[in-house]
Amino acid sequence: MKILVVDDEEIKRVSLVDDLVSAGFETSSASHGKEAIGLLDQESFDVVVTDLRMSNIDGMELLKHIKGNGYAPTEVIMMTAYGSIPLAVEAMKLGAYNFITKPFRNEELTLLLERIREKKQRPPEVLKVKETTDQSRLERTIIGNSSAMCEVRRLVQLYARNDATVLLTGETGTGKDLVAKTIHDLSDRRSAAFVKVNCATFPDHLIESALFGHAKGSFTGADHQREGKFDLAEGGTIYLDDVDDIPLDHQIKLLRVIEEKVIERVGTAVPIHVNVRIIAATKKQLPIEMQNGRFRSDLYYRLNVLRINLPPLHARLVDLPLLVEHLLKRTAHGQPYSLDKEAVQCLLNHTWPGNVRELAHTLERAFLLGNGHITRDLLTPEMESTHKDLAASGRFNIAVHQTEQELLRQALKEANGNKSAAARALGMRLSTFRDKLKKYNL
Ligand SMILES: Nc1ncnc2c1ncn2[C@@H]1O[C@H](COP(=O)(O)OP(=O)(O)O)[C@@H](O)[C@H]1O
Ligand SMILES: [Mg+2]
Repeated sequence: MKILVVDDEEIKRVSLVDDLVSAGFETSSASHGKEAIGLLDQESFDVVVTDLRMSNIDGMELLKHIKGNGYAPTEVIMMTAYGSIPLAVEAMKLGAYNFITKPFRNEELTLLLERIREKKQRPPEVLKVKETTDQSRLERTIIGNSSAMCEVRRLVQLYARNDATVLLTGETGTGKDLVAKTIHDLSDRRSAAFVKVNCATFPDHLIESALFGHAKGSFTGADHQREGKFDLAEGGTIYLDDVDDIPLDHQIKLLRVIEEKVIERVGTAVPIHVNVRIIAATKKQLPIEMQNGRFRSDLYYRLNVLRINLPPLHARLVDLPLLVEHLLKRTAHGQPYSLDKEAVQCLLNHTWPGNVRELAHTLERAFLLGNGHITRDLLTPEMESTHKDLAASGRFNIAVHQTEQELLRQALKEANGNKSAAARALGMRLSTFRDKLKKYNL
């Protein structure tokens, strides 16, 4: 496999080339983008490993040139400083195979190169089949045709190829667990374990031992040496759900794993290397947690490398019909089911504070009660308390908006559609009333 290393820093370039040559790769080098393009015009390379920031045609432009010029399939790996990760993610979206953050151990790079070699050795038909099966599997697991969900699926596929840390954000029930597992299942780590850790369920003093294990006798009750979740996840993926629940004074340990891929068991000082990909999830706004001193900012920046935000269900109601179909099928296990029109309308009117999870539970319950035949009556008891629940669950704004819409609608109805009269009845200026109608599309 032929590799072209492009870096404008000579010392780094030379040492990287040395290492790649001793690892058995046929390697050339260029000191800037322009020189690289000259070489690419003369001979073909399987992989270009390029620095992102360079004077005189940077890595991004080089990437665009490679992808736009119909060279024999050349993969591009970006080397980037930590601060430029957003740009590197952008590069992946433009077709870079992957990126690697500096400083890196050379094994990290050779691992990526080995993967590309493997991929190149597989016949193209096999690759094509894998790509389409991945795609259709993805469409069958993560449901929704809203533009937001299409973007989620696109990112899942992209991030499955990378090995960097992923941060999933979104309210409860929006599909964070599902997305984490799907990324793992599509990644090269799929044959190793996917280990979920619910950070909220451990008492503060046990979280560290749960994650990293402990030595015998390291605390009262520690009768045996025990492995932690990171050991279980070796070679695979660890999914840290509710990562914001890790107490502040334990967060530093997590930072160390991410930065150095090293853990220490509680009660020992022996560093152990781990090979684990981290996916973290939170339903909180971490920047706010950070400002309030509950979350370390350095940890936040380390976690927030590849990011997927799962939008709440009320913001993508177009997905509801497909989701209902999917969830009902899952519930029915092959038994017949039906859903009448009024029931569908009722589902569309609800605001779903519990998102897809709430939808799933609502349907399961109605399915059981109605013996597969779901009517409006079977749904309403659960959904009537919505307003109160919304306000109580901190979704004050949605509750206010809903109430506001109802008042506007009612006033209009009572005034027989006369806007001035309706505004007067509400004690509101006509212009304000009009603005609000426009805002809610009434
Ligand atoms: N886009 C989706 N397509 C299909 N099922 C979904 C989707 N989003 C969520 N679900 C389902 O909803 C339930 C809750 O999802 P989960 O991933 O546990 O949410 P979270 O971790 O964000 O609380 C699960 O049963 C999951 O399978
Ligand atoms: Mg979850």
